[in-house]
Amino acid sequence: MDLTSVERDMLAGRDGPAKQRAMKGLVQLGRAFAAPRMVEIGYAHIHAGMALYLEDVELMEELAAIDARMVVPASVNIANADTVNWRQTGAPESLVRLQRRASSAHAKMGSDCTFTCTPYWAGHWPTWNTHMTSIESTVTIFCNSVLGAKSNRDGFFAVYAGMTGRYPLFGYHLDSNRRGTMLFEIDTPVSGSSDFSCLGFLVGNQVGDGVPVISGFARRPTLDELDALGAGIATSGGATMFIVPGVTPPYGDLPAAFGGHAIPAPVRVLRAAIDAVYARYSDAHEVLDIVHLGCPHASYEEMKHYARLLDGRRIAEGLELWITASRNVRNAAAEAGIVATLENAGARVISDTCPMACHFARTVSPDPALGIVPPRLRAIVVDSAKQAKYVRDMIQCPVLLTGTEEAVETAMTGRFVARRTP
Ligand code: F3S
Repeated sequence: MDLTSVERDMLAGRDGPAKQRAMKGLVQLGRAFAAPRMVEIGYAHIHAGMALYLEDVELMEELAAIDARMVVPASVNIANADTVNWRQTGAPESLVRLQRRASSAHAKMGSDCTFTCTPYWAGHWPTWNTHMTSIESTVTIFCNSVLGAKSNRDGFFAVYAGMTGRYPLFGYHLDSNRRGTMLFEIDTPVSGSSDFSCLGFLVGNQVGDGVPVISGFARRPTLDELDALGAGIATSGGATMFIVPGVTPPYGDLPAAFGGHAIPAPVRVLRAAIDAVYARYSDAHEVLDIVHLGCPHASYEEMKHYARLLDGRRIAEGLELWITASRNVRNAAAEAGIVATLENAGARVISDTCPMACHFARTVSPDPALGIVPPRLRAIVVDSAKQAKYVRDMIQCPVLLTGTEEAVETAMTGRFVARRTP
């Protein structure tokens, strides 16, 4: 790789052991993908240090101890425990203590301890053409497709990129890879986060690791709908970017979205295909335990929407309603009285984690010293195809996918209400 003198200094250890370690890792990554050089990044969304695994937290502490520092704005991905009111998820205190250790290490390294999968709602909003990195696929696809920033789907390398301000030039950092490979034409009303998440799920399934171009929406999708769309696409396939002409910068129309290449015949998306995603996550159940909203982590607008739906009502006895959001969004919603409205209805406003990321998962091996015993849940109702997949695969619990309004009705009545066609 062609390195600048600044990058060579880092690699040689002249800027200390932390940067040397990070640059070594990034050079290895770059060589593996035949990157000709590094690019300067403007933002990093990094690994949280998962408190389920002691070694993971210790790794973050080790980096902090050798003076690793973030040299670009850095936000931190979702945590394993509610960082505000951990008792409401039934987490053991040992898990929370470990999460706090990770938080201290991040604070020392200069990261913003957002602990969220939607750092953009917490103020991290990279602009068009900014090279960046992200460990979270939902963040990567939103930043590529809605904001026009440039990112790959990364792993721990995101931490190294944040420590050096560099990332190898390959993948979606190259304009030549940022053009459509398949065209989807929407031929049905699609409305609300749950529909967009199902649409994303079916598109992601078909496009693989290509770039879907999606057109034909009756109106401009909202930011929350675009967030749900990207999360769905990134869940069922390997896609890293989508293009909605007129929305995704800088693609104004179909010819631009395909980079001047021939526009392929469209795949028409009818209502039946979206309904099939709801049907796919519609497990048999006898008793519901939890209704969950807020995947990806809710925005302030979504919190307002939930409050409108719940105002003056009360959830059914024996059922839990979880609303998950970042601590930043929760704080803003609390100041506006929104959290009080939600809690008066019996909802639990949970910060910085989600059902999939907390101690519920049965497919992980937490540190034995934490004493975690995942609860045996009977059924979870969700309004997100992403959460639905993880509830079934990781929590190994029956799951029912429906719309946001229908999920709230379910929480009110205690009986499952399926998505109604808009
Ligand atoms: Fe975020 Fe958890 Fe959904 S990490 S995207 S709320 S599965």
